[in-house]
Amino acid sequence: MSDFDGLTALVTGGASGIGAATARLLTERGARVAIIDRAVTGDSGFVELSCDITDRAAVDVSVAEAAEALGGIDVLVNNAGIGAIGDVSENDDAEWTHLLDVNVVGTARVSAAALPHLRASDHAAIVNVSSVVAAVGVPQRALYSASKGAVAGLTIAMAADHVREGIRVNAVLPGTAATPWIGRLLDQADDPDAAAEALRARQPIGRLVEPDEVAHSIAYLASPLSASTTGTLLGVDGGMSQIRLPS
Ligand SMILES: NC(=O)c1ccc[n+]([C@@H]2O[C@H](COP(=O)([O-])OP(=O)(O)OC[C@H]3O[C@@H](n4cnc5c(N)ncnc54)[C@H](O)[C@@H]3O)[C@@H](O)[C@H]2O)c1
Repeated sequence: MSDFDGLTALVTGGASGIGAATARLLTERGARVAIIDRAVTGDSGFVELSCDITDRAAVDVSVAEAAEALGGIDVLVNNAGIGAIGDVSENDDAEWTHLLDVNVVGTARVSAAALPHLRASDHAAIVNVSSVVAAVGVPQRALYSASKGAVAGLTIAMAADHVREGIRVNAVLPGTAATPWIGRLLDQADDPDAAAEALRARQPIGRLVEPDEVAHSIAYLASPLSASTTGTLLGVDGGMSQIRLPS
């Protein structure tokens, strides 16, 4: 018997990186899993819904299709997200609006669509994917950090709103994780090797976080075994938010 046996889970951004690792792990632990992504491959083995989470009508349709295909939704993982580089002067209004639309409003949009299904579950849980940069300032991440801080605030507000409906809401705050996203980021660097070493060095564990490690923390928060855990912001950051090593 596994903790997710008989449960269903919907993972946004499930076609890549942390979302794909989470979809795989929840499946291994017994859940039936659907993914929402704007770039589904057709061969993931999960129920796949092609959907951009900035489109409310498409989100409503995809969440309904996921619930229909799975027979309900017990767990929602709001993982889809995009990044931005720059200080507060370097992203134009269109980029601010778009990134917040994906990372913040997208989380709210998918959650709102899933609420009726979560209310019908005996083990309802939402896990949002924030970031260590919600809690720690790093250079050149003004817009992205603002979005992930908003996701952290949204998480505790949603936890309060829905606790008496039996829906738990928590978030993970990953450090820099070895996903295709970071590969793309390093490709843009003048010296990718030096940039990779800098990312490893700023995390006390001295390496990047593995997507599977974030998936395990998401599964911990989503599991019915964590039924008293709500409104928790869980660091998965290699010690970056809490530890200072002598240099
Ligand atoms: N990789 C890291 O270092 C890191 C650190 C902290 C937090 N995070 C967060 O983890 C989450 C996943 O990141 P990842 O590194 O796995 O990235 P990734 O780029 O590998 O995967 C993100 C997935 O989200 C999907 N997606 C993006 N925008 C979408 C949209 N509008 N509609 C539907 N799907 C969309 C993409 O198609 C992709 O499959 C993001 O929210 C990111 O902010 C990542």
